[in-house]
Amino acid sequence: MAITNQIALLFSLLFLICIQNSASVSTESDVLLSFKDSIDDPLGLLVSWSNSTTNHHCNWTGVTCIATKDVLSVSSLNLQSLNLSGEISATICDLPNLFHLNLADNLFNQPIPLHLSQCGSLETLNLSNNLIWGTIPNQISQFESLRVLDFSRNHVEGMIPGNIGLLQRLRVLNLRNNLLSGNVPSGISNLTELTILDLSENPFLVSEIPSGIGKLLKLEQLLLQSSGFHGAIPDSFMDLKSLSTLDLSQNNLTGVLPQSLELVSLRKLVSFDVSENKLFGSFPNGVCDAKGLTTLSLHTNSFTGLVPDSSITGCLNLERFEIQDNGFSGDFPDGIWSLPKIRLIRAENNRFTGKIPESISMAKQLEQVQIDNNTFISKLPLGLGQVKSLYKFSASVNGLYGEIPNNFCDSLVMSIINLSHNYLTGPIPELKRCRKLVSFSLADNNLVGEIPHSLAAFPVLTYLDLSQNNLTGSIPKELQNLKLALFNVSFNDLSGEVPQSLITGLPASFLQGNPGLCGQGLPNSCGGTKSKHEVAGLSKLVSVIISLALSLAIVILAVGVYITYRSSKKSTQMGVWRSVFFYSLRVTEQDLLVAMDDKAARGSGGAFGKVYIINLPSGENVAVKKILNFESQSLKTLKAEVKTLAKIRNKNIAKILGFCYSSDALILIYEHLQKGSLGDMIAQPDFKLPWDDRLRIATGVAQGLAYLHQDYVPHLLHRNVKSTNVLLDENNEPKLTGFALDRIVGEAAFQSSVLSASSGSCYIAPESGYCKKATEQMDTYSFGVMLLELVTGRGADEHIESGDGEFLDIVKYVRRKINITNGAIQVVDPKISNSSSQQTILQALDIAVRCTSVAPEKRPPMCEVVRALQSL
Ligand SMILES: *[C@@H]1O[C@H](CO)[C@@H](O)[C@H](O)[C@H]1NC(C)=O
Ligand SMILES: *[C@@H]1O[C@H](CO)[C@@H](O)[C@H](O)[C@H]1NC(C)=O
Ligand SMILES: *[C@@H]1O[C@H](CO)[C@@H](O)[C@H](O)[C@H]1NC(C)=O
Ligand SMILES: *[C@@H]1O[C@H](CO)[C@@H](O)[C@H](O)[C@H]1NC(C)=O
Ligand SMILES: *[C@@H]1O[C@H](CO)[C@@H](O)[C@H](O)[C@H]1NC(C)=O
Ligand SMILES: *[C@@H]1O[C@H](CO)[C@@H](O)[C@H](O)[C@H]1NC(C)=O
Ligand SMILES: *[C@@H]1O[C@H](CO)[C@@H](O)[C@H](O)[C@H]1NC(C)=O
Ligand SMILES: *[C@@H]1O[C@H](CO)[C@@H](O)[C@H](O)[C@H]1NC(C)=O
Ligand SMILES: *[C@@H]1O[C@H](CO)[C@@H](O)[C@H](O)[C@H]1NC(C)=O
Ligand SMILES: *[C@@H]1O[C@H](CO)[C@@H](O)[C@H](O)[C@H]1NC(C)=O
Repeated sequence: MAITNQIALLFSLLFLICIQNSASVSTESDVLLSFKDSIDDPLGLLVSWSNSTTNHHCNWTGVTCIATKDVLSVSSLNLQSLNLSGEISATICDLPNLFHLNLADNLFNQPIPLHLSQCGSLETLNLSNNLIWGTIPNQISQFESLRVLDFSRNHVEGMIPGNIGLLQRLRVLNLRNNLLSGNVPSGISNLTELTILDLSENPFLVSEIPSGIGKLLKLEQLLLQSSGFHGAIPDSFMDLKSLSTLDLSQNNLTGVLPQSLELVSLRKLVSFDVSENKLFGSFPNGVCDAKGLTTLSLHTNSFTGLVPDSSITGCLNLERFEIQDNGFSGDFPDGIWSLPKIRLIRAENNRFTGKIPESISMAKQLEQVQIDNNTFISKLPLGLGQVKSLYKFSASVNGLYGEIPNNFCDSLVMSIINLSHNYLTGPIPELKRCRKLVSFSLADNNLVGEIPHSLAAFPVLTYLDLSQNNLTGSIPKELQNLKLALFNVSFNDLSGEVPQSLITGLPASFLQGNPGLCGQGLPNSCGGTKSKHEVAGLSKLVSVIISLALSLAIVILAVGVYITYRSSKKSTQMGVWRSVFFYSLRVTEQDLLVAMDDKAARGSGGAFGKVYIINLPSGENVAVKKILNFESQSLKTLKAEVKTLAKIRNKNIAKILGFCYSSDALILIYEHLQKGSLGDMIAQPDFKLPWDDRLRIATGVAQGLAYLHQDYVPHLLHRNVKSTNVLLDENNEPKLTGFALDRIVGEAAFQSSVLSASSGSCYIAPESGYCKKATEQMDTYSFGVMLLELVTGRGADEHIESGDGEFLDIVKYVRRKINITNGAIQVVDPKISNSSSQQTILQALDIAVRCTSVAPEKRPPMCEVVRALQSL
């Protein structure tokens, strides 16, 4: 530490020397440029900082000017979040009117830039969230003009120097989340202008709270949480009359709360948090004198005594009330339940008695109640069901009695109910409205009657514990349909057959203590009787399954709750279409969906749904491919993949214009060319394209493929080269479409659909059957087949009579023919074979034959194919 201190000092000395040596630069724009010189700007976000006459420096990124004596002068530099690094140079101090310097959220990796104290006007220095290291030197006091100093979220270490007290103008001092250590110096009490003091999240700051803190009369926010503060909270707190936020949580503070906090005085408090310390004594009775109080958190301490109703009723703005894990006793204050803004009540693990009053219905914002492990002796009020915002109600281990009211679960957002270990009687009511219920525990009560069938209708119910009651009847079969992770009905009086999946598979079922239950694997089988031996074996098996299932259940419950939470957030988006257009299409996804009717459908469509040709209002045609049931990639991945493909710019690759997606379908929009596909053209009986055009098509397709294979980053494979995936414009310039679908739908889905649909097609390279990995050579093979189509004028699907009564696909047919003398010329399309270009046609045929070699390594790479075709 001493060494870093010295290094820091050395650095600052060096900087001071630099300042003195730097010739005084003339204009402010020169100053800015020379400041920029020492900064690394990897993203080029300071590109506007340049010596041009057209862009005044006051208009440069992050620069703000003021007018002084009719001259514009830089007053503020805000360069936060630009990924800047390098050196913060003192030349900046040559700006005479620089008041604010914000370099937060960058990557400056250096000691505290003391040399900036040369900036005579500097009021704000914000270096939050960089990589600043080293200690705070005593010379920090040189920053005389500073009002705001923010070094938060860096690696500043060592003690806070007493000299910091000399920064008498300081209003904001933020040293949060550093590695400071030692004692907080008493000098800090000299900072009488401070409104915000944040020393939180410095775990090595093992210190008492200096008693001089009470001198900071203007303090509004005192944030000391999650550091190492110990000892008592000083009495001088009573003087902090302006305090609105006090956070002392997660320290090692002991003793009682000072009188001032307990009984009055801090009337401006909005948030009061002393949780997770070792405080004791009584509840701060006067705390609600602060009318604006929204958060009161005393949890996880050793407070005892009563919480008088009168101490709480004044808190009309209270939202969070957390006093759990203490030793409070006596009647729980009724007034809490009807506070108009209350959202969270946590009082579990105390010794409270009392009732839950009907007036709880007035708590219109109440979301969460946790009062487990107390001695509430109460019925469940009807008013509880009227709280429509209630999400969690947990009151296990209390003295609740009486019947569960029918409206109990009327809150539509209710997710977690725990009423276990109480004295509730009567039947379980039919719960209908709380469709978000995830966890429902009524264990260890005196409930009677049957398990309601309606429970099976809760879509996300994951945890159901009805054990230790007096329930009768059978287990509803419909419960099998739930994705339960835990199902505990042990120790009831249930009877009848247990649904098979509740016995054998997940969930972890707990059925013991119900002698009337029967089923395969249970001690009682429903039909006949089984030998003792068999039963013992089975029950052993069952217990193994159960213990396995139990461990799984815990994991699944956690995951389940998480997923449910996420999906409940997402559910609003289900079935909703979203679109990303890379070109302005002036259509909505609705227009597209409507237009995708049978009239627009083309071709068989393949396994991934049909292709539709749609005429846009602009007169343009687009090809739309709808993909259903693809692998459930995350939408983010999906978007990223489509965007990767959409970025391809090559004259022989059809553009992806955009895509629409919903939770279960994807619509890809491609450009469509007027002439349609080569495949369609070849299939026509009067196909008679001249050879020059055919050659142009072949060359273009080869170029497109070569681009995908070698030039585009990331390198792509087409994986579905065929003549129907080659579109033609009016000049017969080809464009490849339908490429790289595997990246969008996922490999498994691609294999099981695209590939399996074309299995047996002669476009597929012979090694595809046994090679797991797709290769460029496979694309080359398919290209060769397409080239054969062009040369022979026959479609790849055609089976050609070979002359000896056999029907062969195009590849086999050509191979057989070219082995006989003059055979080659026989396979050439007669419509072009008489032309003067016979020689080039035969050369093209030769290329096609090489591309369709059985051995992949004999096939030429596509770039070579391009060259060969171009030379024809
Ligand atoms: C900016 O331009 C001015 C005149 O156009 C010139 O005097 C000055 O040296 C230039 N500054 C830099 C840093 O290039
Ligand atoms: C800044 O740019 C705006 C327009 O972009 C222009 O009107 C203004 O005059 C410029 N300011 C200076 C000081 O050049
Ligand atoms: C900024 O830097 C961080 C850390 O080096 C890096 O993770 C991040 O990607 C960078 N941001 C950009 C936009 O490059
Ligand atoms: C410093 O900048 C960060 C990032 O913008 C900001 O969150 C923080 O509030 C600033 N600090 C002060 C004291 O204004
Ligand atoms: C507090 O400030 C006074 C002057 O206002 C100064 O004399 C004294 O030394 C300072 N105390 C500390 C501990 O910095
Ligand atoms: C609190 O003090 C105890 C010893 O009294 C120590 O072991 C513990 O680490 C301290 N905790 C914190 C957060 O400082
Ligand atoms: C129940 O609360 C008491 C304090 O009243 C506490 O000592 C005990 O540990 C709590 N039980 C559980 C399971 O948390
Ligand atoms: C319900 O409360 C009991 C007793 O406090 C506890 O053991 C159990 O884990 C709770 N159940 C759930 C699902 O939180
Ligand atoms: C199921 O309920 C019984 C009886 O309440 C209890 O003993 C057992 O621990 C419970 N099992 C689980 C996993 O909650
Ligand atoms: C529940 O069953 C137990 C034992 O079978 C019995 O003692 C108790 O009275 C029953 N309670 C109710 C409310 O039926």
